[in-house]
Amino acid sequence: MSPTRWIIALLVFALAVPATASLTKTADRHWLTGADEKTRLERLEHYLGGFSSAMLETGLRYGHVRQAVADENWLLADYHWKKIADAIENGLMKRPARRANAEAIFLEGPWKALDVAWAQDDTRAVEKALHSAHQACLNCHVAEKVAFINDQPLLRKTPKLEEKPKEKQP
Ligand code: HEC
Repeated sequence: MSPTRWIIALLVFALAVPATASLTKTADRHWLTGADEKTRLERLEHYLGGFSSAMLETGLRYGHVRQAVADENWLLADYHWKKIADAIENGLMKRPARRANAEAIFLEGPWKALDVAWAQDDTRAVEKALHSAHQACLNCHVAEKVAFINDQPLLRKTPKLEEKPKEKQP
C-alpha cells in the first residue's frame, strides 16, 4: 500500500471508530443534553431497548395479574392486563417484525377474550380465558424461537383461582 493510501486508511479508521463508540462511551454526564441531536436520538433509541424490555414489563405485570387472580381482585387484574397490551404495543413499535405473531397469537384473540371476561365478574369465564391467554404467551415464545423462556415458575403453570391463601382466623 502506498503511503497516501495508508494515511487515508488510518483517517477512515480514526473517524469510523469513535462514531460507533460515541453512542455509549462518553465522559460527559449530560449524555443527552450535551450531545448533538442525531447522537441524542440514537442514544435514546439504544437505551429504550428492543422487545425484551417490553417483555420484562409484561412478565412483571403478569406476576401481578396472577396475584390479583388469586385474590379475585378483577379490577386490579384488568388494570395490569390493559397495561400488558400497552407494553407489548410499545415493544412492537420497536421491533415491528414481531407484530404478526403478537397479533395473530395473542392480542387479537386470547388477550381480548380475557379483557372481556374480567368485566363479566364470572369466575369460571375468567378461569377459561386466563388459561387460553397463558397458553398464547407460551405459543408466541415458541413461534418467536425463544421457547426457553417458558421454563420458569411464572410461566410453567396457568394461574389457579384456588391459589388464594386461606385467611387466618383473628
Ligand atoms: C410476539 C410474541 C410474544 C408474546 C405474545 C409474548 N411474548 Fe414474551 N417474549 C417474546 C420474545 C421474542 C421474548 C424474548 C425477547 C428478546 O430477547 O428480545 C420474550 C421474552 C419474555 C420474557 C423474558 C423477559 C426478560 O428479558 O426478562 C418474559 C418473562 C415473557 N416474555 C413473558 C411473557 C408473558 C407473560 C406473555 C403473555 C402475557 C408474553 N411474554 C407474551 C415474545 C412474546
